Amino acid sequence: MSVDTLHIPVQQVATSRIDEVDFNNLEFGKFFADHMLVADYRDGAWQTPEIVPYGNMSLSPATSALHYGQAIFEGMKAYRDSTNGDVLLFRPLENFKRLNLSAERMCMPELPEEIFMQGLEQLLRLDADWVPAQAGSALYLRPFMFATDAFVGVRPSDSYRFVVFSCPVGAYYNKPIRAAIEPQYVRAAEGGTGFAKTAGNYGAALMPARKMQERGFQQLIWTDAKEHKYIEEAGTMNVMFVIDGKLITPAVSTTILNGITRKSVLQLARDLGYTVEERRVAVEEVIAAQKAGKLQEAFGAGTAATIAPIAAIHYNGTDYELPPVAQREMSNRIATELDKIKTGQAPDTHGWNYRISR
Ligand code: COI
Repeated sequence: MSVDTLHIPVQQVATSRIDEVDFNNLEFGKFFADHMLVADYRDGAWQTPEIVPYGNMSLSPATSALHYGQAIFEGMKAYRDSTNGDVLLFRPLENFKRLNLSAERMCMPELPEEIFMQGLEQLLRLDADWVPAQAGSALYLRPFMFATDAFVGVRPSDSYRFVVFSCPVGAYYNKPIRAAIEPQYVRAAEGGTGFAKTAGNYGAALMPARKMQERGFQQLIWTDAKEHKYIEEAGTMNVMFVIDGKLITPAVSTTILNGITRKSVLQLARDLGYTVEERRVAVEEVIAAQKAGKLQEAFGAGTAATIAPIAAIHYNGTDYELPPVAQREMSNRIATELDKIKTGQAPDTHGWNYRISR
């Protein structure tokens, strides 16, 4: 399909469900806005997308994504500009690029930019009232693509569906996290799919994560598949440490998701004059820094999680406690700055916001 301006047919809901939602009490991922975007790929081409009421989809039991996991997704957020009520979508082209990287790895077709960007823009115009204005809230958008062939043989599907729905959300984690360094299980190995946002990466992490949750740790910090010596990411977010005044984070690789919040945080840290190191981070380095009183901060960075402070790190039978969140100068400063940019309260000097004027 080659289209510069897409005409996207819209089937609007008869009655909005917005009054059923308490915007002052938003649990993450539980409430869904009125409409969704749907585009199908078949016969070697993307078909015209449609906007339809949010609702169930009918699928064959043989749908190949359900069996062999050809399914990828993105997470992105739209905020309300507190100065004029416009909708501000944060860095959507980064999500678009990453979706197509994931698609390539999972042997799925490339999605045209028009479908992604114009689809999002028209969906957001229609559901603009669902973008919360409350501090700490946003409209979370979930673009995803999955294989739709009704076929049981193992091969890439010939047909796919791309969907975007949205949910008004508050915080993903409502208090500082106790995280455990994973000594045994593996999230991703070199040559695998760790850098892609594919459903299987998350499914495979559930059992190890549950085991740690049963021991009181809300998040795992994954380590490398070969030696369990180097820190990778936390599964729902990238991880960062402040050691001796420097911001240190694992460099992205084929086993780590190239997070959009991650790169925004690193950019803001550099803008604010902090030293940033993207490199291999040994578990022992972090533990030694904590023992020496030099581990000042640790936090996760992700779209859903935003900046999620880590209160303690569990490793090899010991809980290593970190300084109270109120004392964490760097992550608090960066979180405030990022939030101000996303909500129009600080200049968007990097051009991160995609503005949808009211
Ligand atoms: C996001 O941060 O948007 C993600 O996709 C992580 C998810 C597992 C909640």
